[in-house]
Amino acid sequence: MQNNTIVHVQGVHKELSNDEKTFPILHNINLSIRQGEWVSLVGPSGSGKTTLLGIMAGIDRPTTGKVFMHGQEISSMREGQLARFRNQQIGIIFQSFFLISSLTALENVAVPLFIGKNKRHALDKAADMLAQVGLSHRLNNRPHQLSGGEQQRVAIARALVTEPAILYADEPTGNLDSSSSQQLMMLLHTLRKRQNLSLMVVTHDNNVAAHGDRVLHLYDGMLVDRPASVASSPSTTTALAPMPKSEANGRQ
Ligand SMILES: Nc1ncnc2c1ncn2[C@@H]1O[C@H](COP(=O)(O)OP(=O)(O)O)[C@@H](O)[C@H]1O
Ligand SMILES: [Mg+2]
Repeated sequence: MQNNTIVHVQGVHKELSNDEKTFPILHNINLSIRQGEWVSLVGPSGSGKTTLLGIMAGIDRPTTGKVFMHGQEISSMREGQLARFRNQQIGIIFQSFFLISSLTALENVAVPLFIGKNKRHALDKAADMLAQVGLSHRLNNRPHQLSGGEQQRVAIARALVTEPAILYADEPTGNLDSSSSQQLMMLLHTLRKRQNLSLMVVTHDNNVAAHGDRVLHLYDGMLVDRPASVASSPSTTTALAPMPKSEANGRQ
């Protein structure tokens, strides 16, 4: 592990079981992300991207294997400790913005700061963060009064208001038109620089993936060296066989 490694995933396997059967989802995942690095993660629907992101972000646990952040093993932390760690160190945004509809933009962004900080301070900091994402004029609007691009920017502000070390983004542009997507990418570059942020961005969109310093390819629960679309040589066919339809329930 290098000194500036911020996240380290070591031998992660994930399986899910019901009464009858065990479904393997991720196989022997090993990867590291350095401070300030932007890593793109691409792969077909059902390949395990969201599962991997959830495990790395401490919202899900590996079946075996370990996840370290700042050298601390988060995969074995107790729930309370992990929740505090997540609150301080990890930001996460999703394709659906998951804003609280009854709260204004300002209140949504202040929510992660209500834990342990006084309310005035939380609202001031939230206003500052909304200014950084270009939404000073939208503080008192509720989510339904905002465009998709604006809602995603509120979600980013909420994710970054605690100044986490890393932002995980799961298909962040999936619900946006191309112009809003482009603006969002530019904003992520600016915020990354300003906060010396590391990013891992899951995407289907090659234009979005190209913003990363590095692109990881997940296929059938395994990290592979090259994208499935160029894997036509016989030697790669086995590793890149598509997941049986019966095991893919179409989740994105
Ligand atoms: N909670 C769950 N219950 C059952 N199957 C799941 C669950 N979560 C994920 N899966 C399965 O795990 C595989 C990977 O899913 P996911 O991580 O959502 O992939 P992706 O984000 O790449 O589309 C899929 O086959 C999906 O059906
Ligand atoms: Mg997904």
